[in-house]
Amino acid sequence: MTFKKLLLATVLASGVAMPALAADMTVGFSQIGSESGWRAAETSVSKAEAEKRGITLKIADAQQKQENQIKAIRSFIAQGVDAIFLAPVVATGWEAVLEEAKDAEIPVILLDRDIETKDPSLYLTAVTSDSVHEGEVAGKWLVDTVAGKSCDVVELQGTVGASVATNRKEGFEKGIAGADNVKIIRSQTGEFTRAKGKEVMESFIKAENGGKGICALYAHNDDMALGAIQAIKEAGLKPGQDILVVSIDSVPDIFKAIADGEANATVELTPNMAGPAFDALVAYKDGTEPPKWIQTESKLYTKDSNPMAEYEARKSLGY
Ligand code: AHR
Repeated sequence: MTFKKLLLATVLASGVAMPALAADMTVGFSQIGSESGWRAAETSVSKAEAEKRGITLKIADAQQKQENQIKAIRSFIAQGVDAIFLAPVVATGWEAVLEEAKDAEIPVILLDRDIETKDPSLYLTAVTSDSVHEGEVAGKWLVDTVAGKSCDVVELQGTVGASVATNRKEGFEKGIAGADNVKIIRSQTGEFTRAKGKEVMESFIKAENGGKGICALYAHNDDMALGAIQAIKEAGLKPGQDILVVSIDSVPDIFKAIADGEANATVELTPNMAGPAFDALVAYKDGTEPPKWIQTESKLYTKDSNPMAEYEARKSLGY
């Protein structure tokens, strides 16, 4: 007799309610795409977390398009999956399709980004960091580091309309508020990619007297910072010294850059959003309502945090 059959027979004989078996579940995951190292790691960690629990995970890559995510959600509903994970590329425009999931009684869990809605019953829970706090940590780090010195900052924003881009901007502004010596002089989207981060940084450098007017770069993710570091080097300046670099995610390559003195600080975003989401889902199927927000940790790392050890700890996670 298989374990599942044995468990079923025991439970039926005892008259006790049958617990939800993760191994029986199929979850559809509408993933944004592969814009960054962090995103690649989130996808591979999600697969590993599903495998660990025996859950069947179907991943649909939306290639940065909300319309593809909406199509994927409709297809998951038609397939009758047990739950849907959604990493929403932008914050607005989800109501109609999430109503459809709700009507089909399929719980939706948001991963790593939030949505704007007046109806929170459209999703079960959101597993995200506090992305305003992430920006604030980065801003405060810069204020402390420049210690009163005048500092003009350029900002590389994430995807326009994404909750994390809006929040990381707001948080950084909060972090530098009150420090009149620190101000953002230029801000533009780098779309969370290395290539665009480099391209936009090149234009910032050109516009700011070959980069001489720039004290620091704040990038909403490490990939854009890594592209910008390349642009700074090509302009004949020293990233990490002539231009301070602070960003978010904590991907392995940024730790190498910190160890080399080419980046200064990173705020961690864990790629393991799916693990807590699977646990919440299994508990929910067993009758436990999860909290509306499952918050992940946001930790600051600098050259004092043994960056090469952090690199080693992350290098095999699929970044
Ligand atoms: O939503 C999380 C953000 O999306 C990550 O910080 C960024 O790298 C990714 O593309």
